[in-house]
Amino acid sequence: MHVIIETERLLLRLFEPGDAQLIFDLNADPEVTRYTGDPVTDLNHARAVLENVILPQYALYNHGRWAVHTKSNMEFIGWCGLKNRPELKEIDLGYRFAVSAWGKGYATEAAYASIKYGFDKLHLPRIVGRAMPGNTGSINVLEKCGMRFIGEEFVDGHLAMTYELRS
Ligand SMILES: CC(C)(COP(=O)(O)OP(=O)(O)OC[C@H]1O[C@@H](n2cnc3c(N)ncnc32)[C@H](O)[C@@H]1OP(=O)(O)O)[C@@H](O)C(=O)NCCC(=O)NCCS
Repeated sequence: MHVIIETERLLLRLFEPGDAQLIFDLNADPEVTRYTGDPVTDLNHARAVLENVILPQYALYNHGRWAVHTKSNMEFIGWCGLKNRPELKEIDLGYRFAVSAWGKGYATEAAYASIKYGFDKLHLPRIVGRAMPGNTGSINVLEKCGMRFIGEEFVDGHLAMTYELRS
């Protein structure tokens, strides 16, 4: 297990090639993908997301989406991290957690640690966060991390509320 970030209650580690089932199970709950616009259809699709989207980011940019585990029992609860979007010239903060892990402050803890890692270790000048207008849980996370609302825009075919934070 290659741990990138340790917080008070969480470990954020690199995803591994064998993690497709974790990704499929997380996305199988329609509550989880309600505001994400990118449902995972089956295990092969999860494998493709892992191999074509998540893992290449680590090699290309030295950061990406990280698997999140609770330190207390090492349970996989979701992912969080920084995704490079070269087509937008942006580094995007993202997170997705199983419903059983909501309402415990884990998302904010992981998101805040990812931002800090981006600024302190990667020396990024700017991090962007986006949420669909109805996704109040996600908007709260962005705001609790100190991100600043800069406007609404269409990204990836959806209306998004865009937030940013500069180092
Ligand atoms: C968006 C999402 C990550 C938010 O998760 P969350 O659990 O609501 O977020 P938080 O980590 O901020 O925790 C929320 C609550 O935990 C509570 N909490 C309980 N124990 C806590 C603790 N020890 N520390 C901090 N907060 C705690 C807080 O009251 C907090 O709510 P509040 O800020 O309104 O008081 C989650 O709903 C999710 O994964 N959704 C599906 C995927 C998704 O939409 N991703 C975002 C796409 S843009």
